[in-house]
Amino acid sequence: MKSLNVGIIGYQFMGKAHSNAWLQAPKFFDMNVKPVLKVACGRRAEPLQAFADNWGWEEIETDWKKVVARDDIDIIDIAVPQHLHYEIALAAAKAGKHIFLEKPMAMTLEQARKMAAAANESGVTHYLNHNYRRCPAVRLARKLIDDGKIGDIYHWRGAYLQDWITDPDFPLTWHLQADKAGSGPHGDLNSHSVDLARYLVGDIAKVTAMTTRFIDERPLPDANAATFKGGSSGAGMGKVTVEDASFMTVMFENGALGSFEASRFATGRKNYNFFEIYGSKGSLIFNLERMNELQYFSKDDPDYAQGFRTILATEPVHDYIANWWPPGHVIGYEHEFVHAVVDFMDAIDSGKSISPDFNDGVKEMEILDAALESAASGRTVTL
Ligand SMILES: NC(=O)c1ccc[n+]([C@@H]2O[C@H](COP(=O)([O-])OP(=O)(O)OC[C@H]3O[C@@H](n4cnc5c(N)ncnc54)[C@H](O)[C@@H]3O)[C@@H](O)[C@H]2O)c1
Repeated sequence: MKSLNVGIIGYQFMGKAHSNAWLQAPKFFDMNVKPVLKVACGRRAEPLQAFADNWGWEEIETDWKKVVARDDIDIIDIAVPQHLHYEIALAAAKAGKHIFLEKPMAMTLEQARKMAAAANESGVTHYLNHNYRRCPAVRLARKLIDDGKIGDIYHWRGAYLQDWITDPDFPLTWHLQADKAGSGPHGDLNSHSVDLARYLVGDIAKVTAMTTRFIDERPLPDANAATFKGGSSGAGMGKVTVEDASFMTVMFENGALGSFEASRFATGRKNYNFFEIYGSKGSLIFNLERMNELQYFSKDDPDYAQGFRTILATEPVHDYIANWWPPGHVIGYEHEFVHAVVDFMDAIDSGKSISPDFNDGVKEMEILDAALESAASGRTVTL
C-alpha cells in the first residue's frame, strides 16, 4: 500500500480528534493510500512529546515552518487557532503539500481568497474540515433531498448552541480574542451551520444579522487553557473582543428563507448543532446530540399515519456505516473525522476534489463577513 507522511500542527482538542482519525481510518476502511503519523508540532516541547508518544507521532517539532519545509512531509494538517491558518496554509500550498485545514477557514475573506488561489494554483488537494457533513444522518438528509422526498425547500432553521463560557470566571482563551479568533461563535459555530445549509439547501443570496456581547472582561488564561478548558493565570483581567452570540437571517438563492443562531451562552446546551428543513413534500430535523438519528416527516405517508418518524442511520445502506459496526451499534463524534480522512486520502489518490474545499471556504467567508457587515450597519447585505 502507498503511504503519505502527515505533519500535524496543533495538539489539543482538534489535534487529538485528527490524530485519532489518521490512526483509525486505515484500520476500518480500505484505503489505497495510508497516512503515516510523521511529525507533530506545537510550541512547548514537553506536552508535545507526551502527545506524540500517546498517539504514535514519530517525531516532534516546535517550529511549524520547519515542518512545512520538510521534503518528506506530504500532508499538512492545520489544527491551530484561525489567526495561524492563513500563513501556514499559504506556505503549505507553496511547498506543494496537501492541506487538511480546520474551520473557520481564515480571519478575513481576503485571506480566504488568497489561500484558495494558492491551493488551486499549486494543484494540491485542499479540504476544509466541516466534519458534520460526514455524519451518516446528515448524508441521509442530503439523500432524501436529492431523491425529491422533501420537495421545494421553504425553510432552513439552524442553531449551534453551547454554554461553556457562561461562567464569568471562565478565562480569556484565544476564542475570545479577536486577533486570534477573528470572531466569536459567529465564525466558530455559524461557519459549521452555514456549511451544512450550503450542503443541504444551497447558496445564500442575502443576509441580515445581529450580534451581542454579554461579558466584557475575563480573567487572563494560564498556559493550559484551551477549547472548553479553563485555567486562569492570576495576572488580572483582559477585554473580550469578540461577540458572545450571533443571530442571522438569510434568503437562499432558491428562495428559501433561513435563520441561524450561534451562541456560547445557551445554558444547558452543550454542542447543540441543530437544523430543521421544511419543504413542500416533507421535513427533516437533525440534532448532533442525537447524531445517529434523523427525523423525517413525509406528506406521502397516509394521512392517518402522518407524523415525524425517527430514522436510526446505522444500517449498512447509510454512508460509511458498513465499515463500522452491525446495525444499531451507534457511532460518535470522532467517526466524522475518520470519514473526512478517508475521503481526503481518496481525493489525493484520485486527483478529484473533496467538499468542502477552500473554494467552499471562500463562499462561506463571504456569507460570514456579510453578516458581520450587516450587524455593524443594521442593513441587509446582498451577496
Ligand atoms: N471541526 C470542529 O468541529 C472543530 C472543533 C473545535 C475546534 N475547531 C477548530 O480547530 C482549530 C484549533 O482549535 P482547538 O479547539 O483544537 O484549539 P485548542 O486551543 O484546543 O488547541 C490549539 C493548539 O494550537 C497550538 N498552537 C497555538 N499557536 C501555535 C503556534 N504558533 N505554533 C504551533 N502550535 C500552536 C496550541 O499549542 C494547541 O495545541 C481552530 O481553528 C478551531 O476553530 C474545529
